[in-house]
Amino acid sequence: MVQPEVLAALARETLSHTDPRFVEIYRHALMRTRELFACHQGEVFVLAGSGTLAMEMSLLNTVQAGARILVLSQGYFGDRFAQIAQCYGILVDCLTAEWGRQVAASEVASMLSRNRYRAVTITHVDTSTGVQADLETLVPLIKQHGALVILDGVCASAALEESMSRESGNPASTLDVVLTGSQKAIGLPPGLLVLAMGEQAMAARQAMPTVPAYYGDVLNWLPVMQNPSRYFATPPVNLIVAYETGLEGIFAEGLPARYARHRAQARAFRAAMRSMGFTVLAEEDLAAPTVSCLLYLRGIEDVAFRKALAQRGVIVAGGLAHLQGKAFRLGHLGNVTARELRQAVIAMAEVLQEMGNPVDREPALSAFDGLPE
Ligand SMILES: Cc1ncc(COP(=O)(O)O)c(C=O)c1O
Repeated sequence: MVQPEVLAALARETLSHTDPRFVEIYRHALMRTRELFACHQGEVFVLAGSGTLAMEMSLLNTVQAGARILVLSQGYFGDRFAQIAQCYGILVDCLTAEWGRQVAASEVASMLSRNRYRAVTITHVDTSTGVQADLETLVPLIKQHGALVILDGVCASAALEESMSRESGNPASTLDVVLTGSQKAIGLPPGLLVLAMGEQAMAARQAMPTVPAYYGDVLNWLPVMQNPSRYFATPPVNLIVAYETGLEGIFAEGLPARYARHRAQARAFRAAMRSMGFTVLAEEDLAAPTVSCLLYLRGIEDVAFRKALAQRGVIVAGGLAHLQGKAFRLGHLGNVTARELRQAVIAMAEVLQEMGNPVDREPALSAFDGLPE
């Protein structure tokens, strides 16, 4: 869902990237981005691109060819880090969880004690499985071993806390890099990448004389991020204006309230789905507040189900990889409201009925009782 004020910001007259009005908006958007991640000591980068480019930049700016990283994968997007690393000659060990589960902390500990890793990548929420990583356990463990923690927040940032602050947490458990794209919980159209790099991550880049990238080299962007009246490559002006508007909406809601709303809505949605007979792939204590992967009831045909839902205005995605045809995914993140999720449940009940699987929708809908609309 993109809010009307964000769409209106996109539709505003396009300013020159050197226009002082735009420079001020960019500066403010960067300041808000720092606040979002409590990135007070490091640097933030808001650029044209998608989450994948941010993943790529997070690796190429911190890890040299020939160095080794550990990828913690709980699904399709975790594996992508390993593919990117291979393109840059970075050596990779990968711990892969069965889809729907987390990587076991004991296995991470064992890998960390046997090898020296420059960085460990974590996918905060893997969009393919709806599983949330256990940052509270993993981050201190990784930091004890001196590796950088790189967090993919594409399906989490602005919906789950991702603090890089040294003051408010234990300095030994600081995230070093957080990256995301504009299109998920930030509630913008796709097109922007957001990359926050802490002090140690920036020091890692500074220590490398060169990196195998030009657009993707954060040192080329640093002067612009410190003073957006400077030029390196033309920024996507309207998207940045819209991003600043979107962030204002996020801060008007308040981060703690926003995180709590996501948790409450997600819990209610999953309860409703279970009550209609679906299985949530992730167990409740691992399930993400942003997206759910739901296994079909026996006999429900995937494409027909999603098509019938789309005709009712509810867009869900199919399962990825081996879950194709067996599961679908629904995003409950960003600006989505409890009312919209309730409507989605009603639409699903109608479609199930149409497909010859009638369900009692009332117990499912009661899961939303007490939530603000
Ligand atoms: C967790 C996660 N990481 C990375 C990506 C890749 O981001 P993008 O599609 O913006 O390149 C996605 C995309 O959905 C994602 O969900």
